[in-house]
Amino acid sequence: MPVQTVLRMGNPLLLQRAREVMEFNTAELNRLILDMQDTMQAEDGAGLAAPQIGVNLRVVIFGVGQNPRYPDAETVPETILINPVITPVDDTMEEAWEGCLSLPGLRGLVPRYRHIKYSGVNIRGEKFERQASNFHARVVQHECDHLDGILYPQRMKDLKQLAYTDELERP
Ligand code: NI
Repeated sequence: MPVQTVLRMGNPLLLQRAREVMEFNTAELNRLILDMQDTMQAEDGAGLAAPQIGVNLRVVIFGVGQNPRYPDAETVPETILINPVITPVDDTMEEAWEGCLSLPGLRGLVPRYRHIKYSGVNIRGEKFERQASNFHARVVQHECDHLDGILYPQRMKDLKQLAYTDELERP
């Protein structure tokens, strides 16, 4: 399946609220997921949301095994999450550096809930629920924000902490 172009910040399609998926086991949904998986893999992403390839539906995928972009990151299960709902478990927030395929080359320090529950349905329309903490929780919050037209700089407290990755890594 073809790798799709990832839309970049400034494209208005990244600022919309995406629509719920109503129909499952369709060729369109299966093709969308395959395109997202191929695109995420080609870009070495930790996750991808359908609006990032121009599809206005509440579908995200994520997963981190050993990813060259996040060599120290804990692993996150490979997941297809449709029509997600996130509930913080408590008020604890944690700041960490985040990147996004829609803001290539940049990193920002972003506060996120440390512990969440999330639920949604899989590609067959079957409901599931999980608890997540730390990096796993961060990835889910980041990807689901895309479904509400939110990019991570909108979550930042201090835009001085938005930087080019290669400047941050300069010895
Ligand atoms: Ni992103």
